[in-house]
Amino acid sequence: MSEGSLDGRVVVVTGAAGPSGTAACAALRAAGATVVGVGHSPARLADLARSLPGLVVETADLADAAAVDALATRVRERHGRVDGLIHLVGGWRGGDSFTANSEADWRFLSAGLIDTLRHTTLAFHDDLVRAPAGRVAVVSARAAAKPSAGSANYAAAKAAAEAWILALADSFRRAAAGSGPGAPDGPAAVIFVIKALVTAQMRTDRPDRSFPGFTDVADLADRIVELWAADAAELNGARITLDI
Ligand SMILES: NC(=O)c1ccc[n+]([C@@H]2O[C@H](COP(=O)([O-])OP(=O)(O)OC[C@H]3O[C@@H](n4cnc5c(N)ncnc54)[C@H](OP(=O)(O)O)[C@@H]3O)[C@@H](O)[C@H]2O)c1
Repeated sequence: MSEGSLDGRVVVVTGAAGPSGTAACAALRAAGATVVGVGHSPARLADLARSLPGLVVETADLADAAAVDALATRVRERHGRVDGLIHLVGGWRGGDSFTANSEADWRFLSAGLIDTLRHTTLAFHDDLVRAPAGRVAVVSARAAAKPSAGSANYAAAKAAAEAWILALADSFRRAAAGSGPGAPDGPAAVIFVIKALVTAQMRTDRPDRSFPGFTDVADLADRIVELWAADAAELNGARITLDI
């Protein structure tokens, strides 16, 4: 995407201090967007802000609905609009057998992978519908459709997140249908599906590995920026596989 293609747009990136969040924030900033990077750890966010001039950072526990509502109010008051929600909160727990799927792991995964998505999409829904081309993206895993015994908790959480996004896409479809001919592009929600992520640092650390089927965070970031160039009706509800 060309420099400046996202001038004037405001994009919220959750999980901003993670590997994909860092790459997405950099690519969105390079395309001209105002980027609000949201995370948990103030220290990691401060490091990110230092490395990426112009990035706005916000600390919030996105598993806490009231904290997310307060975050949305701050973003609205400061920036006046929200054109994108790129939800990159992660976390993994699993074991080597079906019965190793513990309660504690489910609580961790359902809070991180489902609750944070529910809270943020509910809080920003109306802003995204109002935007000329609102965009929401999540990154799911192959495991959601092809779980292994030991990853039942993780796969079930990812599958639930996918279902949530499809419901959001239905809401966006209804909103666009009600806006009439000549209206702007309208909102779209998409699911990127990967096997695993790889970073430049991982390639440097393990020159002996080829990372087959992995998605480079830089490629994912480019796909995120391109969401605003694509037609909402084609994007909305799409499950886009990036690992082949
Ligand atoms: N990594 C992979 O190989 C892989 C494979 C399949 C799918 N995915 C998906 O791809 C996406 C990005 O993955 P990633 O590896 O870049 O992410 P990640 O590093 O696992 O997580 C990103 C960030 O999420 C933040 N976070 C966690 N819980 C939070 C909460 N309650 N409130 C606010 N922030 C919270 C953490 O922030 P703090 O550091 O500030 O605590 C963390 O830096 C995720 O949705 C992940 O499930 C990744």
